[in-house]
Amino acid sequence: MSMDYREYILDHYRNPRNYGKLERPDAHAEDSNPLCGDQLAIDLQVEGGLVTEVRFQGRGCAISQAAASMLSEMIEGKSVEEVVQLGKDDVLDSLGIPISPARTKCAFLSLRVLHRSLALAGLEKPREEEEEE
Ligand code: FES
Repeated sequence: MSMDYREYILDHYRNPRNYGKLERPDAHAEDSNPLCGDQLAIDLQVEGGLVTEVRFQGRGCAISQAAASMLSEMIEGKSVEEVVQLGKDDVLDSLGIPISPARTKCAFLSLRVLHRSLALAGLEKPREEEEEE
C-alpha cells in the first residue's frame, strides 16, 4: 500500500503539476528550507475570492517538490477562505505515507510559502512561523 504512495510521490516529483510562474500574480512568496537550502516559490491568481491559478517553482527533494505539486492541485479553484484553513494534516494526508520528523520541514515548505504568499497579499493574517517541531 505504501509503495503505491511512494510511486504517487515520485510521480508528482517527476511530473510536477502547475509548475512555473505567473506573469502578474496576486500573491507571491518564496522561501527555502534552512536545513538544506532547497527553495520554493508560489504564485497565485485570485479572482472573486477564489484561487483561480497556481504555479510553483522550486528545487529540492522529492518530498518537498511533490508536496508542492499536490498542494497546488489541492488549492486551485478553492476559495481563499478554504485555502487559509489548510494545515499540516492536509499536507500529510495528501502525501499518504508517514513522514519522519527529519523530513517534516521538506513536507511543509510549500505550505509555509503558501500561507506567506496570502499574508503578503493581505489575504490572511500573518501567522507565527511555526518553526519546525
Ligand atoms: Fe531539502 Fe527536503 S531535503 S526540502
